[in-house]
Amino acid sequence: MSVQTQLKRVTVPEIRAHKGAAPIVCLTCYHAHTARLLDNHVDLMLVGDSLGMVMHGLETTLGVTLDMMITHAKAVMRGSKRALVTVDLPFGSYEESPAIAFRNAARVIQETGATAVKLEGGARMAETIHYLTERGIPVMAHIGLTPQMVHVKGGFRTTGRTEDEWPALLADARAISDAGAFAVVLEGMAEPLAAKITREIPIPTIGIGASPQCDGQILVMEDMLGLNPNPPKFVRQYAQLGPEIEAAVKAYATDVRERRFPGVENVYPMKKAQ
Ligand code: KIV
Repeated sequence: MSVQTQLKRVTVPEIRAHKGAAPIVCLTCYHAHTARLLDNHVDLMLVGDSLGMVMHGLETTLGVTLDMMITHAKAVMRGSKRALVTVDLPFGSYEESPAIAFRNAARVIQETGATAVKLEGGARMAETIHYLTERGIPVMAHIGLTPQMVHVKGGFRTTGRTEDEWPALLADARAISDAGAFAVVLEGMAEPLAAKITREIPIPTIGIGASPQCDGQILVMEDMLGLNPNPPKFVRQYAQLGPEIEAAVKAYATDVRERRFPGVENVYPMKKAQ
């Protein structure tokens, strides 16, 4: 390369270097305004396929398409400069073969400028994780409660609550780490198992409803901001934006109905006649 460019965003090796050190701060993000607000405070933003439920009112993530992910990822990239942006590969875009996963992941990276992709699954996805990583696409894995398996599991079930489930989940964690994933999301996982996986694998674990022993945490931003009236019970709400937005809209509606249009006086003030 004749021109050396400096990567301005948090890099994959920087995320990996958090293993056993300062916790990694992660949130989901789906649009430009919020990306700008989050950018200086998080290490990693995930354009998660949860956007299907949060932004589009779907019941599960299964209806999310690659085009939807790319549209939202472009917005998040335009709104941010610093945090590492990872984009979920949606259901149906990567499971069939490593080559198809590569084609779709490459489209995400080329069209959005994001750094990495995330996909769900443990040992069964190891070959794909290796294939992508070897060809220049960093992969974040996701095990435990994997929402794209909702119909196979018959719901969104937490994992590892009985010890007989542990060996398979530990094998998943080891397989994706050996395959080259740079980090792994542990979702809806019994605390002692998440802590054990964190101790036993060399890549950072990022918990959501898992364990404070994880190397970082991710939450759905709308859940922690109070925009979801029924957030999961492991979520602390740091703000109550839902009620605040509703109160603001109510005040606005009253103004308009009572023919008060505050602010309009600032538009096109009449010029004094010469
Ligand atoms: O889609 C998503 O938002 C996720 C996080 C909950 C980890 O996968």
